[in-house]
Amino acid sequence: MRTPIMAGNWKMNCDNDEAQALADGVLARAGQVEDALVILCPPASALTTVHAAIANSNIKLGGQNMFWEEEGAFTGELSARMLLSCGCEFVIIGHSERRGRFGSVDEADAADLDTIFGDTDATVNRKVKAALAAGLLPIGCCGELLGERQAGNTDAVVEGQVKAMLDGIDADGVAQMVIAYEPVWAIGTGEVCDADEANRVCGMIRGVVAGLYGDELADGMRILYGGSVKPDNVEGLMAMADIDGGLVGGASLKADSFGALVEAAADAR
Ligand code: 13P
Repeated sequence: MRTPIMAGNWKMNCDNDEAQALADGVLARAGQVEDALVILCPPASALTTVHAAIANSNIKLGGQNMFWEEEGAFTGELSARMLLSCGCEFVIIGHSERRGRFGSVDEADAADLDTIFGDTDATVNRKVKAALAAGLLPIGCCGELLGERQAGNTDAVVEGQVKAMLDGIDADGVAQMVIAYEPVWAIGTGEVCDADEANRVCGMIRGVVAGLYGDELADGMRILYGGSVKPDNVEGLMAMADIDGGLVGGASLKADSFGALVEAAADAR
């Protein structure tokens, strides 16, 4: 049986005071839940604040991104060891908001915030490898753009992203990973992917992992759905066999709504 995960990706929200208040609220609302794993991913500036707030609870801490080098002249970047030293056990890697969808930052128009950060399948793979080598557990993200879905390419895009993300990683490493399926068109739009369709794609991802690493590893892997997960749609998603939880943006920024999501995840198993 896979323990469900409810992960809050706070993105670029919450200064330290707000992070303290939100972490305190989540702790009060969901700190005692045992049947689901709760992960909070605040901005890097608030990691130590949130870590202190959730000490002595079951809640885990995650970073939102990292660089694969161990140290050096990489202004603005964080290494896996730095995240570990802030108390992180997890790290989100390859979120669509960090992927340069055209493969090169040179092509990114500074006004186009969707393409400016420039992660590619290759950099995502490097980051996953570096995280695992350092002992951080990656939450590797994948998901298609609206145009890719409309063109009927969802499965090919997602399969390609998953295979590239896992390239060269052995079974011991992959067994420690979580994969999050986040259709880009459903993120922050209020437009949730239909639960059956989200389940179908998560099942397809599990099949890809099974093809590469065998059924046993794939059966044990937590695969999350992300994209406009809210208290009013979470039960339908959590009822699905291949959806093991959520990676949540907007609804993780209020302790009440996130607490409701955690409870739904815990009740689902
Ligand atoms: P929303 O829940 O705001 O759609 O964000 C999803 C997401 O990107 C989580 O990583």
